[in-house]
Amino acid sequence: MRDWGGRHDGVGYNAEVLGLTDPALTLLRDFIAQRTGVFYDDGKRDLLADKLSELVAARGLTSFLDYYYLLKYDAEAERHWGELMDRLAVPETYFWRQSEQLEALARVVAPRHFEERGGGSLRVWSAACCTGEEPLSIAIALAEAGWLDRKPIEIVASDGSAAMVERARRGLYGERAFRALPAHLREKYFRPEAGGWRAAACLRQQVRWTTANLMSQADVEPLAAAANVIFCRNVFIYFSDDAIRRVVRVFAERMPAPGHLFLGASESLTRLTTDFELAEVGGAFVYVRGNGAGPAAGAETTRRPGTFTFPEART
Ligand SMILES: C[S@@+](CC[C@H](N)C(=O)[O-])C[C@H]1O[C@@H](n2cnc3c(N)ncnc32)[C@H](O)[C@@H]1O
Repeated sequence: MRDWGGRHDGVGYNAEVLGLTDPALTLLRDFIAQRTGVFYDDGKRDLLADKLSELVAARGLTSFLDYYYLLKYDAEAERHWGELMDRLAVPETYFWRQSEQLEALARVVAPRHFEERGGGSLRVWSAACCTGEEPLSIAIALAEAGWLDRKPIEIVASDGSAAMVERARRGLYGERAFRALPAHLREKYFRPEAGGWRAAACLRQQVRWTTANLMSQADVEPLAAAANVIFCRNVFIYFSDDAIRRVVRVFAERMPAPGHLFLGASESLTRLTTDFELAEVGGAFVYVRGNGAGPAAGAETTRRPGTFTFPEART
């Protein structure tokens, strides 16, 4: 790696060069946004610098610029990107998050799908699944509504971080993950063991786990093309508008109509021009890509979100 003449602090990297004003930090910030969608604005520069400094030091490098070259030109750049995705991941998630959306899926979208498509599978993609709480909640909701045993359902869960997907595969969860899940559902679908609660094998086997970077068209296209419903929640909050537009365009182009896209509570596409229309379905907000004739069948405009919950959720 090149020595570019910075002052070294004796602990493996150059504190001055690894500072917030380092222009290489801007280079890295923009490169990361381009490859992962995640954009660190100026207010989050210190957070990015902290995360990157660890990786720079771990690689035995002395500057952000050297790390930039590593990500750009190294023969093992993909492995370094993987490590970076793991470090950037914000593993904040829990079971039964925004349960009104799970209810809308199980009580409205799924029955309508089976009514209209006969024997066709319902395919749900959890596109930033983190440690797995979201796709497992989807499986629980569909099981509780009586669909999982009776109808062909495929749930695919992916995340850009391989470390998160690995944790999801293990299916072992601590108390905090259950803060919104009704107790009787935890009893039903999880087994206590040392270190937490393990998701029942029957639940985990419902989900196909994989890694996928939302900014990679090659990763996203096949998954979107197979998905009737996409849950892409609480990841666009970290993305630039350009990155969101790019991902949503691929969703819209590839999803079979009618396609349903669930976003997180603080996320919105309304300021962007996309092919999705905001609708209320079963009491939840959802972005719907119809057949070119407005919101897909099943979309309602009269109910407010959150006006009913799963009967099973009332404990
Ligand atoms: C806050 S978690 C959201 C988890 C879950 N969807 C939820 O709403 O509870 C954000 C996840 O997005 C993932 N992520 C960030 N950038 C990504 C990208 N470009 N492609 C795929 N996943 C990404 C992170 O690894 C992290 O696991």
